[in-house]
Amino acid sequence: MTWGTYPNTRLRRLRQAAWIRDLCAENDLTPRDLIWPIFVRDENTPSLISSMPGVNRLTLEELTEAVQQATDVGIPAIALFPTTPSRLRSPDGSEALNPNNLICQAVRAIKSLNLNIGVITDVALDPYTDHGHDGIIINGVLDNDATIEVLEQQSYIQAQAGADALAPSDMMDGRIAAIRDYLDDHGHKDRLLISYAAKYASSFYGPFRQAVGNPTLSNLKDKKTYQLNPANSDEAMREIAQDIQEGADMIIVKPGMPYLDIIQRASTQFNIPTLAYQISGEYAMLKAAIQNGWLDGDRAILESLMGFKRAGAKGILTYFAFDVAKKLCE
Ligand code: PBG
Repeated sequence: MTWGTYPNTRLRRLRQAAWIRDLCAENDLTPRDLIWPIFVRDENTPSLISSMPGVNRLTLEELTEAVQQATDVGIPAIALFPTTPSRLRSPDGSEALNPNNLICQAVRAIKSLNLNIGVITDVALDPYTDHGHDGIIINGVLDNDATIEVLEQQSYIQAQAGADALAPSDMMDGRIAAIRDYLDDHGHKDRLLISYAAKYASSFYGPFRQAVGNPTLSNLKDKKTYQLNPANSDEAMREIAQDIQEGADMIIVKPGMPYLDIIQRASTQFNIPTLAYQISGEYAMLKAAIQNGWLDGDRAILESLMGFKRAGAKGILTYFAFDVAKKLCE
């Protein structure tokens, strides 16, 4: 490759006006890139999430309204997370297997509207366990294989409720293959599996845990025996390779902004759609600075999302999805 040199080459010529900057843009951001994570609540759970100003937990009625609006602004999919009341939580998270739990009701309510929008449900036990961990704890250890057996059932009841895509976020080994087999054997061959393949043991999940009702973890103090070490990148590639082999249709890298290198590496190394998750702590940081007037909100949010596209993400899960999509439609 030959590179021009100054003064006959002046790269600033390409930046001198909006039309030429637009013409030369290497990436773009449209509502089609955005997946909207939504917290679902029952009537007795408060809607406000103090660490995520602007994000509310929604009742089923509010949810159907919101999903209708999301469809209108061109959002292709939503991702649902329940806030399970503490009386329904238990060490084994059995409420996850209740075919009439909040999530299944939410899925049925949305699917009955017949909208052109994908419904993604979260497969993991943390919104249902009283200790806040993603699986079953046996003898002081988060038990991989016992957890997978429950996740198969959880996936199945979500698929039965009508979820289009199941997104395991638990980081157990072998769960993609197990869930794929179970769904295939029980009449759900076409349900997508979107694997949280590279999910890190991050401190940025704090506001989410507050939102779903796990402000503190008990029993085991953190999730480091199952979520990835933030120091590692090769290991993330092995996780992704394995999940693809096991039948994942798409993969997610989570968190987003501190892990752009992982998104870039994954999207170049594997030819599978890669999604970024701009998680709760990233939302909280941006929102706090915006509310203080320290950042220009519209520009900072768009720039943060464009970064994911530039890194190679095919889509982005972000709590800003609705506001951004609305703005992009104006
Ligand atoms: C766990 C789960 C987490 C998030 C969604 N599902 C992380 C965790 O609690 O360890 C975090 C999402 C966010 O922070 O926005 N299954």
